[in-house]
Amino acid sequence: MSTAAPEPKANMGQPIPRYDAVAKVTGKAEYASDVALVNPAYAYLVTSSIAKGRIDRFDLAAAKQVRGVIDIVTHENAEKLKAAKLFGSGGYAATTIQPLQSAEIAQAGQIVAVVVAETFEAARQAAHAVKVNYTAAMPTATFDSPGTTSAPAKGQLAQFKDDPKVGDFAKAFGEAEVKVSAAYETPPQHHNPMELFATSCVWYGDSLTVYEPSQYVHGLKNGVAEQLDIDPDKVRVINAYVGGAFGSKGSLTPRTAIIASIAKRLGRPVKLVASRAQGFTIATYRAETRHEVQIGASRNGKLTALRHEGWEISSRPDPYAVGGTKTTTRLYDCPNIASKVSIVRADRNTPGFMRSPPEVPYMFALESAMDEMAVALNMDPIELRRLNDTTKEPIGGKPYTSRSLMECYDAAAKAFGWNKRTPQPKSTTEGDWLIGYGCATTCYPTQMAPAAARVRLQRDGRVRVEIAGQEIGNGAYTVIGQAAAEKLGVPVEKVSVFIGDSDLPPAPVAGGSNSTASTCSTVIMVCEQVRQKLFKALMPGESLVDKAKETVGMGQTPVTQAASSDRPFDLESAFDALGVSVVEEYGEWKPEGAPMDSFRAMHKGQMRMVGGSEMKDKIAYAFGAEFVEVRINKWTHEIRVPRLVGAFAAGHIMNPRTARSQLMGGLIWGMSSALHEATEIDERYARYVNDNLADYLVPVNADVPSVEVILLSEQDDHINPAGVKGIGELGNVGTNAAICNAIFHATGQRLRKLPIRLEQLEI
Ligand code: MOS
Repeated sequence: MSTAAPEPKANMGQPIPRYDAVAKVTGKAEYASDVALVNPAYAYLVTSSIAKGRIDRFDLAAAKQVRGVIDIVTHENAEKLKAAKLFGSGGYAATTIQPLQSAEIAQAGQIVAVVVAETFEAARQAAHAVKVNYTAAMPTATFDSPGTTSAPAKGQLAQFKDDPKVGDFAKAFGEAEVKVSAAYETPPQHHNPMELFATSCVWYGDSLTVYEPSQYVHGLKNGVAEQLDIDPDKVRVINAYVGGAFGSKGSLTPRTAIIASIAKRLGRPVKLVASRAQGFTIATYRAETRHEVQIGASRNGKLTALRHEGWEISSRPDPYAVGGTKTTTRLYDCPNIASKVSIVRADRNTPGFMRSPPEVPYMFALESAMDEMAVALNMDPIELRRLNDTTKEPIGGKPYTSRSLMECYDAAAKAFGWNKRTPQPKSTTEGDWLIGYGCATTCYPTQMAPAAARVRLQRDGRVRVEIAGQEIGNGAYTVIGQAAAEKLGVPVEKVSVFIGDSDLPPAPVAGGSNSTASTCSTVIMVCEQVRQKLFKALMPGESLVDKAKETVGMGQTPVTQAASSDRPFDLESAFDALGVSVVEEYGEWKPEGAPMDSFRAMHKGQMRMVGGSEMKDKIAYAFGAEFVEVRINKWTHEIRVPRLVGAFAAGHIMNPRTARSQLMGGLIWGMSSALHEATEIDERYARYVNDNLADYLVPVNADVPSVEVILLSEQDDHINPAGVKGIGELGNVGTNAAICNAIFHATGQRLRKLPIRLEQLEI
């Protein structure tokens, strides 16, 4: 590497193959439960068949007879653990329902015993032989069940400071020339990642190593340390790969501390792989929601009034809610807006994040109602969005950092062939099939969080990047490698990326679509430190950074601009001048507007995410437009989706190949959400019925003949040094509404309750 000039944009933005592709397709990639342990014991969970009540006694005689059983842990003999604090209240935990601490049962599927045996099979057999006698009380299952309590979300959780509102909704709606009032519902859904909820714990003296798929190794480390009441620096969490998570592995679940304490008591490694069904109740899920939306407009289509009220189910003890009116009240220009979110408590496990919170349920309601308004106005639904497009959000008047929503509509409409659509519902048929076209807006807040990284550059050009990010399918290894390669001017093949280990410099949760922006911004900054160090050895007294650039604060300079203002210099000579063969730098980055305690919190695994609508003087979102064609058989009512087309604008795209995969996955998941997925509840017992992948429906290849992703270029100089808006959760936000809007176009029937089943169609 004698030529030292970085090749700007040689790496960032290129569709290079995944860094981890070969490891994954050859089976070399090691997931948490693949890690070979020395003389492990195997744990199997016993979970509650009742949703409310108490355990009277256990009959363990038969279970203890199973050959190979080592121990059976229940609340009668389990270690007492410290209470877990909820993620949404500044803690780490997904739930405060802590099993094995008392005889009380707060949810169906709560862990009531853990059988430990010499083999997985013995543990499983014995677990099935555990008999539990309960005194059951009548549980409350869901909305409309007797015993629910409802209260405003405002004030219950830190994130709900207020319900966005502006102007006088009631008056404006009363006077509106055209009105839409409608109620919408979304079902409970479970993430069902391919990789099950596994945890292995190994103690070395008083140090604990946890192998567990996690979206947040630093959070998990600190959370489990808190529950076990030990020094967090005695805990290490390792997971090089995560086999799907979608939010379900973002916070601490009760199983980790339980398995850790059993491993300690046994003095041997313990490995748990929970079953598919247990995953429905020992982790989080998306709870069912209800919505009322009212929109008022003038005859020419200008919005004059908007009201969005949402209700969400949570558990008895925990006030979890996604609360998406932050987005739906800010998307379109409108002078009079009211909103409110309420949390409805039932005897259920605590819900949590599920891609893409909070937008999926709330945007379904708003974007369906917008389509209903377009019908009421006899206006093209794209034109209605165009007429009410805005560069400033209407609640606080803050400008969007960039917003390419209508460009997305135009690109997607063209690719889709929207101009072939005849507006009249039920106007297009082909043989026995009714054909409908529908579209909807998709969007997701651009968020960032503090992170730290260590970068080592060798004289031979090899680079090692260390940052405790997580590879959850998001392409983290790949884009971090690209960022370092570009900034240091080396080929990406020379970069080794180390993530997924809490001994590495802390990075935020791989959630809220903040990962790429946060980790790449950090890595770019630390690579700059490496370059500065070398350059200063070569040219003492000078700095690489141009004077002009110094006046622009970090957080405002997009990297494309920074890279081009970098002065090239000879790295080999710089190494010679410095008299070393390796330069290593560590640095901590935080986004503009991050609170004072950001770095301290980061080291404690506490999130300080900023962005979206929460910034002081601006608002940052990624946008897209999603179009679908549905075909409905007029005899069988079978619903097919032959085409999905999405156009997206999300700032700088680090890697079009991994980005396309993410967005395709999102579009397909959105279709799945509209037509397939729902967790069915037996309301008598507050239990999930279809807790397996045979009955919990997900699409197969035959359900998705064609998915087209269009990536629009967008430069945003006001978000972060990488110029990146998140895309992980952008793809599946608009799809539910787009499909319902297409079904209306095909049939003339408006369906407001997801998922759409063919028996709902009355054609
Ligand atoms: Mo995402 S649901 O924030 O992991």
